[in-house]
Amino acid sequence: MDDKKLMILKNLKSRFHQLLDPIYGVEEVDSFFRFLIEYYFNLKPITLVMNPNYEVDELGAIKMEEALARLKSQEPIQHILGETEFFGLLFQVSEFTLIPRPETEELVQWIVDMCKSRTEPLRILDIGTGSGCIPISLGNCLPNAEIYALDVSGEALKVAEENAERNKVEVKFIKGDILNYEILESGFLNLNFDVIVSNPPYVRELEKEEMKPNVLEYEPELALFVPDHDPLRFYKVITKFANKYLKNSGLLFFEINQYLGKEMEELLLANDFKEVELRQDMFGNDRMLKGKKL
Ligand SMILES: C[S@@+](CC[C@H](N)C(=O)[O-])C[C@H]1O[C@@H](n2cnc3c(N)ncnc32)[C@H](O)[C@@H]1O
Repeated sequence: MDDKKLMILKNLKSRFHQLLDPIYGVEEVDSFFRFLIEYYFNLKPITLVMNPNYEVDELGAIKMEEALARLKSQEPIQHILGETEFFGLLFQVSEFTLIPRPETEELVQWIVDMCKSRTEPLRILDIGTGSGCIPISLGNCLPNAEIYALDVSGEALKVAEENAERNKVEVKFIKGDILNYEILESGFLNLNFDVIVSNPPYVRELEKEEMKPNVLEYEPELALFVPDHDPLRFYKVITKFANKYLKNSGLLFFEINQYLGKEMEELLLANDFKEVELRQDMFGNDRMLKGKKL
């Protein structure tokens, strides 16, 4: 197709389908195209219906071609756009942050439901914060909460800080390794919390086979993987940390590996947590766990 024809949006859309349908299927390609024309040209899909010969300028056509090439190499659309929506807010994402997932929105909803009727001040900590999607969404919904968030990755924290600023939510960020929490700064270790939440790395190496290239090649290993021989390594340490740093009656929330729901329930019970509750995500997989400290 010549360059002039590719400035007509309808032709660009056909090209997207021709090259991308074999990889993603028609519906997903439709939604990529919708996101891109809205992001680059502020257009709604109805524009194409009302005006089938709508033309973009040459620069616009070049941007769409670039996006097409990146999608063809299975780069996530969120990286191409540089942002994604989570819990009604916009978050910047990068190669250093996990792309926030809809399952995690369900975890946030659970915490908001449990905490929204509390009128007294509340202190919350998110461990392994990535883009900051969990603490920023919680801060946005729970204005009386003082929010802390920790990550070992300086690059991820930079993105999270920008997201907090962009969404006008105050979060205190801490750089540190939760697996060695004893050496975190003493000011932080003097605090205790009403709620601790974590979506830590939980994918076993053996599960790599089930994963798509857009995750394996473009999302940070540090955010995803744990060794096959110790898949609960983060949960064990965080449960111990929570036992020490949660207030009495404080709540611990986890996002978990869908294959390890039973083991996770046992872990919390063995550490004297009460009211342990396992919940499924929208796909029916064991995905979230809550426990209450005595
Ligand atoms: C599964 S991602 C979750 C990101 C974000 N909370 C979300 O739900 O989208 C796990 C996060 O844990 C961080 N992380 C990995 N190892 C860590 C460690 N030892 N201490 C603290 N954070 C760690 C990673 O950098 C990553 O941001």
